[in-house]
Amino acid sequence: MYADITRISLEDFHYGPQIPGESELKLLPEFSNGATSLELGAGAAQNSIFLNKKYGMRCIAMDISEERIKNAQELCSAEGAEVELQVAGFENFLEVLKQAGHGGEQFDFVHSSHAIEFVQDPATTIKDMVSVLKPGGTLMLSTVHPLFNGMWFANVIEDEEGNEIEEVGQFITNYFEPPDDIRDEDGFHVVSRAYPVSAWFDWLTAAGLIVTAIKEPAAIDDAPYSSDDWASHEGQLDVIPSTLILVAKKA
Ligand SMILES: C[S@@+](CC[C@H](N)C(=O)[O-])C[C@H]1O[C@@H](n2cnc3c(N)ncnc32)[C@H](O)[C@@H]1O
Repeated sequence: MYADITRISLEDFHYGPQIPGESELKLLPEFSNGATSLELGAGAAQNSIFLNKKYGMRCIAMDISEERIKNAQELCSAEGAEVELQVAGFENFLEVLKQAGHGGEQFDFVHSSHAIEFVQDPATTIKDMVSVLKPGGTLMLSTVHPLFNGMWFANVIEDEEGNEIEEVGQFITNYFEPPDDIRDEDGFHVVSRAYPVSAWFDWLTAAGLIVTAIKEPAAIDDAPYSSDDWASHEGQLDVIPSTLILVAKKA
């Protein structure tokens, strides 16, 4: 199960598996006192817990899975964090926000780490996220990198005695239409979709945002988010990015 196999630090804001967090990447905007944030596809809401504890932000975190929101409740209690938690998907979060009495442009920061790859229509989802962002607010998305949803071919180079000298690899895919990554996870059939970097840029600008950063970080040893499964991709992650990070501002 995702929650059992993934290690996520509460001491840093994480962007994706095996890559540096905010302490190194420094992508977050400056937050004023009482700033507000909304996290979607939050899992156990570690990033919202971090923002609440570090900056005193008023945070709402949502996930489509009741189980994940239960994990988040337990973590918030254990950490003494105040995060409003709701079961909601990217598809219905506007409705759920309204029902909970939160309508309109109200968030300084809207963010989602490695979850938007599960929606069918990212362009519409981005517009929905932007609709609740205050003017001057920031949207941060991290998602699967289009090169990572391909196929890795490893080629072992041997010396004359047949000893492995090095493993070289090649990443083979159709960059313009990266293949879906389809798997069964926690009893759900999930489809992770990736898109070229320029598609994300176009969706963000079409939603009226100014893109301020695009990052494709290389893997590091002490990442704030890691799992044995991700670590097993080590050779690949030295040469291709697993995660695409997009930061954009509402004018
Ligand atoms: C890879 S996990 C990432 C969780 C968390 N953001 C983190 O960084 O640890 C993906 C999360 O997206 C959630 N998810 C999948 N489809 C979703 C959807 N349509 N709407 C909202 N959340 C979704 C899953 O329940 C899961 O918690």
